[in-house]
Amino acid sequence: MTKETAKKSASSTTEQKATSTNHPKVISDYNGYDYKKIFWENADRKYEDAADRMAIRRLLPNRMGNFVDIAGGYGRLADEYLPRATVATLFDYSKTELAQAKELYGNKLKTKAGDIYDLPFKKDSFDALMMIRATHHFKDMQKVSDELYRVLKPGGVAVIEVANKKTLPKMFRYWFKKSDINPFSLEPVHLKNVDQDGFYNYHPKYIEAIFHKSGFKIDKVLSVSNFRSAKLKKIFGTKSLVRLERGAQGLLAPVRFAPSIYYRLVK
Ligand SMILES: C[S@@+](CC[C@H](N)C(=O)[O-])C[C@H]1O[C@@H](n2cnc3c(N)ncnc32)[C@H](O)[C@@H]1O
Repeated sequence: MTKETAKKSASSTTEQKATSTNHPKVISDYNGYDYKKIFWENADRKYEDAADRMAIRRLLPNRMGNFVDIAGGYGRLADEYLPRATVATLFDYSKTELAQAKELYGNKLKTKAGDIYDLPFKKDSFDALMMIRATHHFKDMQKVSDELYRVLKPGGVAVIEVANKKTLPKMFRYWFKKSDINPFSLEPVHLKNVDQDGFYNYHPKYIEAIFHKSGFKIDKVLSVSNFRSAKLKKIFGTKSLVRLERGAQGLLAPVRFAPSIYYRLVK
């Protein structure tokens, strides 16, 4: 299965009222779901993992004081930021994910549970943060972006991955009338049929307007997971795709056609 949350329990979506806005929110709850095993270890996703790591290495500052990995799951990417940060915290909604992270990293990594719409951190807390493979769970990206901005120090860096609505395969599906979803229109798409929670995909222009509205400056953009396709993996193999990815991340950034668009934002 290609879905991040495909095997979570049917009762895992919680509709609540946000505490600080009147927007209803959906919490995509990974409690009781073995994301590490099901999504990463039992599936062929070495290329996607390598592509994420390549982008993070390119975008995160080499030296960071206080750092937080937002919606960081079980800490899949912790070995990328632990050597660069003086203090690193992993924040997530799921206690299952946080317990796995503790098992893997012990005291090297602080953990904190909570909801992204109401981050349990004070204003100006962090020198840097990242949020990878999480935007597709969030309905109110303006609120999320405002929260990330609030907890960063002035001059701080946020590395954020966005699930892109405007990908090449989606364009072809639209042009050949295989899908009604117009990848060129700015409004977010809620893919309700993906699993019980659905996924949100965002148009780069829509999301960039949100970042600007929060107050962020966009410092750098990368096009990531450009060759995310089972067929391409079969034909070329993971190693060759990773090699191609190395050149493509910067080269293809201006067109923003990849499934993952990475942003380095500065407060
Ligand atoms: C697809 S996983 C990504 C984990 C990690 N960033 C990675 O790339 O491996 C998405 C994560 O978002 C977390 N999440 C979903 N909704 C959340 C919310 N409202 N607040 C905080 N975390 C949330 C889930 O618990 C899950 O660990």
